Amino acid sequence: MTISENWLIRETAFDPERLHHKETVFTIGNGYLGTRGAFEEGYPGATPATLIHGVWDDAPLFFTELANAPDWLPFVLTVDGERFGLDRGEVLCYERVLDMRAGTLRREVRWRSPAGREVDVSIERFASLADEHVLAIRYRVTPLNGPAKIELRAGLDAYTDNWGLRHIEWLAQGSSDPQYLWMHSRTLKTNIELAYAAHLAVDDISGVEYHFWDADGRPTSVAHFTLSQGQTATAAKLITIYTSRDTDDPLAAAQAKLERAVEAGYARLREAHIAAWADEWAQCNVTIEGDDAADRALRYSLFQLLIAAPRHDDRVSIGAKTLSGFGYRGHVFWDTEVFILPFFTYTRPEIARNLLLYRYHTLPGAHQNAGAEGYEGAYYAWESAETGVETTPKWWPHPDGSLVRIWTGDIELHIISDIAYAVDQYWRVTGDDDFMRDYGAEIILDTAAFWGSRVEYNAEADRYEVTDVIGPDEWHDHVDNNVYTNRMIRYHLGLAFEVLDWLDEHAPEKGAELRRRLDLSHERLARWRDIEAKIKINYDPETGLMEQFDGYFDLRDVDIADYEPRTQAMDTLLRESGIDPNDTQLLKQPDVIMLLCLLADAYDDRTRRANWDYYAPRTDHRYGSSLGPTFHAILACRLGMPEVAYEHFMHAAGADLEDSRGNAAEGIHGASCGGMWQAAVLGFAGLRVTPDGYRVEPHLPRHWKRLCFAFRHRGQPVEAVVENNKLGGGEKSA
Ligand code: BGC
Repeated sequence: MTISENWLIRETAFDPERLHHKETVFTIGNGYLGTRGAFEEGYPGATPATLIHGVWDDAPLFFTELANAPDWLPFVLTVDGERFGLDRGEVLCYERVLDMRAGTLRREVRWRSPAGREVDVSIERFASLADEHVLAIRYRVTPLNGPAKIELRAGLDAYTDNWGLRHIEWLAQGSSDPQYLWMHSRTLKTNIELAYAAHLAVDDISGVEYHFWDADGRPTSVAHFTLSQGQTATAAKLITIYTSRDTDDPLAAAQAKLERAVEAGYARLREAHIAAWADEWAQCNVTIEGDDAADRALRYSLFQLLIAAPRHDDRVSIGAKTLSGFGYRGHVFWDTEVFILPFFTYTRPEIARNLLLYRYHTLPGAHQNAGAEGYEGAYYAWESAETGVETTPKWWPHPDGSLVRIWTGDIELHIISDIAYAVDQYWRVTGDDDFMRDYGAEIILDTAAFWGSRVEYNAEADRYEVTDVIGPDEWHDHVDNNVYTNRMIRYHLGLAFEVLDWLDEHAPEKGAELRRRLDLSHERLARWRDIEAKIKINYDPETGLMEQFDGYFDLRDVDIADYEPRTQAMDTLLRESGIDPNDTQLLKQPDVIMLLCLLADAYDDRTRRANWDYYAPRTDHRYGSSLGPTFHAILACRLGMPEVAYEHFMHAAGADLEDSRGNAAEGIHGASCGGMWQAAVLGFAGLRVTPDGYRVEPHLPRHWKRLCFAFRHRGQPVEAVVENNKLGGGEKSA
């Protein structure tokens, strides 16, 4: 069967200049781990990385990071004693293909050695979606100009690091038979054990000799054999991984799993893996007919989210850079709840539930954060890791050696309501009342208690204020009454009352328990009511315009056009010309516009339009935050401007595949990927869930023919098809 190009990400030439970018692009994974697209044989300067959910280790400045686990990729070929590599000899043909439907990464290379031996090499790898502890590599080699003595070395490598920082301590290794090997290691500071087992087999070639190389930290199975010209050898390396997070004896588990994997063999493991992907895609694929580039880029974003999504673990979440790179150290931000989660809420609620349970399990950390600042309730970390205790670095090392103070961990508070919002959305879309009763309500009420203690009363004006914060737009810090933050607090407190009422009606015992345990006294609830009614919202009813924070409109109004053409973010350019971005009206990312998207039903078109007209031109779409473009696309759709939305959408599409922001080497832009789904389904298709059901209000770009997507509404699978009409709008046909 031929596979549509839109399921494939293809690289037709190897470009060493793009090595790290492409390692990110060709990341594969299965929700348990992610492995960057480094080459099996290595390459100078490469950053191979396998990041396993929950495997944290201490890191200076950043507190903790996901440790780069031992590398399972090493697979070295020598041909008549010459080592295959893209940095030597001559690459005659080259192609690398990520097949998103099958979840496999394949590479075909025709190579001429320095001494003139020519071979075809074909390598395929996958991280099984059917069994997340199983990984596999198939290696094929064919000599093209005469017979050749082949050596294949399939190993494991404990000597990994995160941009130079080591986290793995090698403990032991061994081999019961030269085709089998195992390695035991642990993280240096957190003592998480990692156990790998591996097996090498060469099919249908007579006279293969196997040896075990016992180099400490690099156990390797080696196969020797001879091939005649044109003869193909197919080898398979199967690898199994367990950590002490999974079981008390990870080594025994890895070895037992390997036995079963070897029994099944590569082909059957692959079949099961592909079947699991087919099932996954049936639940969440989106198809854009009439625009291959958009279709492929959107699918790629979904693929990257799916491979980072924990399926069997509710104590981990998806970091800002997924499991694909060292950027942001694996830490979890609002990116997850506001940008990424809706895709799962609508298509794979089981996964969304795991992600929200991570927040539930980290409530003790959130209490610690609140207590440390003298507040009540739960204060979710801006950057969260294993425990939920704040892990935002306080200082950031600049290349010139100086340290820059980072304030987000101290005062970027809106994440607290963002999480409550995500719980609410999950509840409304899935109808999962059990989750709300057992976990969601507590998250919402406990975080509301934080606001009750954090919000300040201004007696003179008889209103509540929130001073000294950072809103979503991070180019302005230490601001007062950020409208996004304050309006989300009002929404959050309103939600808290709604949930309390719901508990009283549907789960009175739970309601009583939470009232008792969280000390929701009449006095406390009365204060919440008062805050809800009197919190300052910078909104001008005359114009519909919202002032991003107190005094924003008085700041210097800089025209981005004056700085074009440019290749850098506006904050850098401003600083270079001696201007502090804090003193200007320029935005790193949408702030008021985020609010208009999240609380969509609270605003009318006039308000949407007035704020779009004001804020969109003052935002650095190109080099500001990658979180911005997709939400601009959503609002532009709502304003009936699908062509404008499309530009933002395609801009977001380039963040990883084209490296349009120049930082894809650090990992996938997870929030942008999630925003792509939201732009397509909630923006262009205009899907709305209402108390009575759902409907679509499509605004398709003129050249899109159809937009098809799957989702679940209150447990029921829905296949939606939105057809374009000639006017650029759209109508729902099924
Ligand atoms: C953005 C934040 C985002 C973080 C992680 C920052 O540059 O301003 O909104 O949460 O990156 O992606």
